[in-house]
Amino acid sequence: LPLPRRLQAPSNLLHMFFRPEQFIARHAAAAPIHQVHMPGSSPWFTADPDIIDDVLVGRSKLFIKDRITRDLALVTGNGLLVSDGEFWRRQRRLAQPAFHRERIAGYADVMVEHAERLASTWREGQVLDIHAAMMRLTLDIVAATLFSSGVDRAIADTIGGSLDLIMARFSDPTYAFFPWLAGLPLPKNRRFAEARARIDGAIRGIIAARRASGRDEGDLLSMLLRARDDEGGQMSDEQLRDEAFILFVAGHETTALALSWTWMLLSQNPAAWDRLRAELDRVLGDRPPTLADVPALRYTDWVVHESMRLYPPAWSVGREALEDLELGGVPVPRGAQIWMFQWAAHRDPRHFPRPDAFEPERWDGDLARRIPRFAYFPFGGGPRLCIGNNFATLELVLVLATLARRWRPIVRPADRPRPQFSITLRPAGGMRATLQRR
Ligand code: HEM
Repeated sequence: LPLPRRLQAPSNLLHMFFRPEQFIARHAAAAPIHQVHMPGSSPWFTADPDIIDDVLVGRSKLFIKDRITRDLALVTGNGLLVSDGEFWRRQRRLAQPAFHRERIAGYADVMVEHAERLASTWREGQVLDIHAAMMRLTLDIVAATLFSSGVDRAIADTIGGSLDLIMARFSDPTYAFFPWLAGLPLPKNRRFAEARARIDGAIRGIIAARRASGRDEGDLLSMLLRARDDEGGQMSDEQLRDEAFILFVAGHETTALALSWTWMLLSQNPAAWDRLRAELDRVLGDRPPTLADVPALRYTDWVVHESMRLYPPAWSVGREALEDLELGGVPVPRGAQIWMFQWAAHRDPRHFPRPDAFEPERWDGDLARRIPRFAYFPFGGGPRLCIGNNFATLELVLVLATLARRWRPIVRPADRPRPQFSITLRPAGGMRATLQRR
């Protein structure tokens, strides 16, 4: 609206709260990059692939994480997702080997095993919150791959329950705009601090036990414990705890969201469901998938790609400029908060004809090579590319194949949730689904 400047910030905040899809889409379409007035901070919005390339890759050294992400460090500790500079670089180098392709391949069986176990607890006609089920599944998978035998069910439950509280705190938009709220003695802040302390205690216990036993369990924690930098230095217990914590946070909800939105999209698009089923029947027949099946599960892979195009679990990434510079020919001052939107870039009709349609087959052929590299970036890019991207992609394909082979979770039109633009793109109020046996 053509409002006087001092009314723009509250009006924008209301618009962002009540119609976020429209708000982001409009601002992204208005200009390749421009400043949007909001209370507290006035970020610069962009969904332009070339500008995003410039920020995340070309001149990535001139940026650090944006203020909202840095504030997360107060609650998560200083793990990879939120750290910056030399500290981040060293931690990333130490953690990277744990995420090598061959290493991740070893987790395929764990992923399928957990999905099979879930599938055998389901009952015909059961109505459930499919998002809650996916959250529990991906939490179990990340716990099993990160800590393997070090985590018994009770500890996983402690971590899961406490993590729910912490994610609720992350997703509370008031904190994003008014970070000082975190310092007040509010009941929700106290509950949050207690949850954080419980997780800390659980993770510390696991690390201490592992150091004492000295055994290599073949999990991510063993890799992190062994990792050495060029000078032979290793991570301290505190650094290990922060990294383990951030892997829990970054590694489970995002993957669960991708699965949940996929179930909704498959319910809305029966033709895509039929094609997926046909592929699973052809490739797997009557058995669960293994790592060796993954290359043949091409349609399953396109479904995952297309789902993260329409509902990117990370719907934006943010950076702060360390000096005055120009982006796309526009002068941007030092300290500027740059918000880059997957949500808008992924729906740009120049790169994705019929942008709102769920068409997995659009990923057939060379689409990924034809579009600019930041027209589609569910895992970010450049040096800060998601360290778990291969892990997540493998998990998504294997879990989807394992569950869809036996069950069809149907999300009815009346139960389709609206996306809630919190730190991640969540289904507001969960996602009700009815299970139909194959
Ligand atoms: C970073 C998305 C799964 C761990 C990121 C970033 C994005 C992202 C967009 C970059 C943020 C930025 O540039 O500011 C996703 C999505 C996932 C997923 C959509 C699932 C569908 C995972 C998994 C793990 C993980 C499974 C670990 C097991 C991390 C970590 C970082 C990160 C540690 C920070 C990396 C760094 O800055 O060095 N993720 N992620 N993510 N992700 Fe993921």
